[in-house]
Amino acid sequence: MDIVPPALTLADRAALPEEFRLILAEHPREVWAEHRDFNGLAAFWLERHLAFRRVLETLGAETRRLLDGQIAAEAYAPRLSRLGSRLIGDLMGHHQIEDEVYFPELARLEPRIARGFDMLDADHHTLHGLIDRFASGANAVLGETVDAARRDAAGRFLAELGAFERQLIRHLEDEEDLVLPVVLKHRVG
Ligand SMILES: [Fe+2]
Ligand SMILES: [Fe+2]
Repeated sequence: MDIVPPALTLADRAALPEEFRLILAEHPREVWAEHRDFNGLAAFWLERHLAFRRVLETLGAETRRLLDGQIAAEAYAPRLSRLGSRLIGDLMGHHQIEDEVYFPELARLEPRIARGFDMLDADHHTLHGLIDRFASGANAVLGETVDAARRDAAGRFLAELGAFERQLIRHLEDEEDLVLPVVLKHRVG
């Protein structure tokens, strides 16, 4: 993997950098759904990303409800445990297939934006650090049996969840803008 310059790091980005928007310019997001091959790998990729966004939204909403006293810890804990474990497993599997299978193939098809795939690969490493913190934060909440201590842990978890969600959403959007145009243009999958 190439070294990613600071301007391209996940925490510092606001969009897919200009230098990687060559294929996106030919296949902008507004026309993806009309492409004849959209209902294959492209739609599947977007659905996977939507599922990740929804789980994080649900976990954030339920943690806020716990803090507001609208949901009992006995109801919240098994949901956090189940949704959290599944999210981690699904994300790790998703990143692995992207890094090992799809990114090399797409970079070969469009060498002019190959460094964009290195950037996304580097994002995955950043996200793995955030996933570790997510797991520790969730386990801290699940490990507390006293209400006040559980609330404190849930407050810290909610703050971490926000940082994780912001960076994951940035990664998902930039990845979609890099990947989907290449998938549609070359009819991959
Ligand atoms: Fe990714
Ligand atoms: Fe992805």
